[in-house]
Amino acid sequence: MSTQSLYPVNAELAASAKINDEQYRRMYQESVVNPEGFWREHGRRITWFKDYTKIRKVSFDDHNLYIKWFYDGTLNASYNCLDRHLETRGDQPAIIWEGDDDKDQLTLSYRQLHEKVCAFANALKGQGVQCGDVVTIYMPMVPEAAVAMLACARIGAIHSVIFGGFSPDSIASRIVDGKSKVVITADQGVRGGRIIPLKGNVDAALEHPDVTTVERVIVLQRTGGDIQWQDQRDIWWHDLMAVSSPYCEAVEMNAEDPLFILYTSGSTGTPKGVLHTTGGYMVYASMTHEYVFDYRDGEIYWCTADVGWITGHSYMVYGPLANGATLLMHEGVPNWPSPRRMAEIIDRHQVNILYTAPTLIRALMAEGEDHFNDFDGSSLRILGSVGEPINPEAWRWYYDVIGKERSPIVDTWWQTETGGILISPLPGVTDLKPGSATRPFFGVQPALVDNMGNLIEGAGEGNLVLLDSWPGQMRSVYGDHDRFVLTYFKTFRGMYFTGDGARRDEDGYYWITGRVDDVINVSGHRLGTAEIESALVAHPEVAEAAVVGYPHDIKGQGIYAYVTLTKGTEETEALRQALRQWVRSEIGALATPDLIQWAPGLPKTRSGKIMRRFLRKIAANEVGALGDASTLADPAVIDNLIETRLNRN
Ligand code: WTA
Repeated sequence: MSTQSLYPVNAELAASAKINDEQYRRMYQESVVNPEGFWREHGRRITWFKDYTKIRKVSFDDHNLYIKWFYDGTLNASYNCLDRHLETRGDQPAIIWEGDDDKDQLTLSYRQLHEKVCAFANALKGQGVQCGDVVTIYMPMVPEAAVAMLACARIGAIHSVIFGGFSPDSIASRIVDGKSKVVITADQGVRGGRIIPLKGNVDAALEHPDVTTVERVIVLQRTGGDIQWQDQRDIWWHDLMAVSSPYCEAVEMNAEDPLFILYTSGSTGTPKGVLHTTGGYMVYASMTHEYVFDYRDGEIYWCTADVGWITGHSYMVYGPLANGATLLMHEGVPNWPSPRRMAEIIDRHQVNILYTAPTLIRALMAEGEDHFNDFDGSSLRILGSVGEPINPEAWRWYYDVIGKERSPIVDTWWQTETGGILISPLPGVTDLKPGSATRPFFGVQPALVDNMGNLIEGAGEGNLVLLDSWPGQMRSVYGDHDRFVLTYFKTFRGMYFTGDGARRDEDGYYWITGRVDDVINVSGHRLGTAEIESALVAHPEVAEAAVVGYPHDIKGQGIYAYVTLTKGTEETEALRQALRQWVRSEIGALATPDLIQWAPGLPKTRSGKIMRRFLRKIAANEVGALGDASTLADPAVIDNLIETRLNRN
């Protein structure tokens, strides 16, 4: 394997790319010097019912904060993803679906997808869903998940998609926050040969005493497996569709009307409902999808993200469909039943653009290259990475083994909050450095600040902030605007704080170093340490808990929990397993602690604040340089934790 540190733009791609480096620089310059003019032009890439005259109204002042884009224009997101393509590409595949079992294959043309969306939109209306209502979607990776989202958008309902890996408790708290009357789910999901009791989880969530709003559960029959049924409340998807008309006008929405909410974890409290609106989001998702992936008409585009995450919203549904792309949707796990699965899918469907996560690359890498001996891969043109920093070894493996040293990798940095990609190379434009997300997209003004909020010029390292708005930016935390202001605009005044740290090199390239707050990133999934801690302390035998991330070969970060048991409780292996199971059922499998260390005491300051930096170092097995422990109430606590630490790698 090479150790090359710079991969200049491939000449062939440069010759055919949409823009070259000089154009990028010119467009970027214009986008920040004259954002009004730049976005006035590029906002027209989507179809507006009523054209906008107002481009942006933005203030990042935490006392007087507002963010609006294209705000006198009207449009419909579903119209942009479907109707406007019917004339030119009605028969083109919109979604190619491959089931968990590769014998299950299905293709939907734009016309067919449009019909299904219209019919389901009518079904929702028939169930009393109105413009502005929040509809909860808890679905497997099947085309109907996209149908449900687009049907909501069509009638102006706000969807709230919950990842299928979340537990009944997590579903319940999201339903309560969104006050949903309707939940859309499936009888069961199938992933990696395992059955996921989606309807069962919804049933359990709805038993929660706080959930009082849900009147209807629409159930897609995916497996035909056994489920419970409540006649008054539950209704089959296919029964609704059988009587629904496939004609449904797309409702005219204002650019700033909500399109969806999506819950994500932060450093404190319960997950926040990140609110995205319609116009700016659609412009930004479609534009980034086209430029970052150098998307060309007719190409097959595969994003491995689940619809339950923001990547599944912006780059599996809204961005690609707005651009008339053919997207491949896979129900299962890309390395099941064998590590060859991903390669097989690429060859079988002649995938041109692949967008996936570093954790999958590392998992494949660990299986060995032999699995790829008969991988052709000649259809691939662009590779993408998202969700967490990609380490240079994984980057090179991805480039060499999957990309056969031909396809550029776009390492895309962004967040649920940003709606779309903010920092990324552009194919044919940007020379690549493994591990760097490189340069900002049009209109994006990243900067680094020290902990006091002073701007760092030139090469350096600090907290990553954004100095101005871009159209895809979140507009609020659903139902709690103060929390939005507090979380993102108070740490460094007048700037949006990302929660990430970054380094900028001499070429102006950004290298994301990871979260600087109490958020951890496990296999590209965002979790708040506070959430896991509160799940742990809800267990009757736990007195106190502190959770940190630690470096993990495959997952990027693993979950390391320090647990103090109530007096008299014995520290047994059985209890450790029980606690892991407990967190799993409280939040979901993705939050299961990898390591639980018994901690008779936690390192605290005299005022009782837990000193997490010590805990992070011990979890990372960096016990040589712990730093000053003199502020601790009881320094001996540290020695004990070091001695009994669980990660010795
Ligand atoms: C991390 C996912 C490094 C980062 C789209 C961010 C990344 C968090 C990258 C957001 C990348 C995402 N390089 N780190 N290319 N992409 N991250 O909201 O810490 O699930 O703040 O959005 O993932 O995670 P989220």
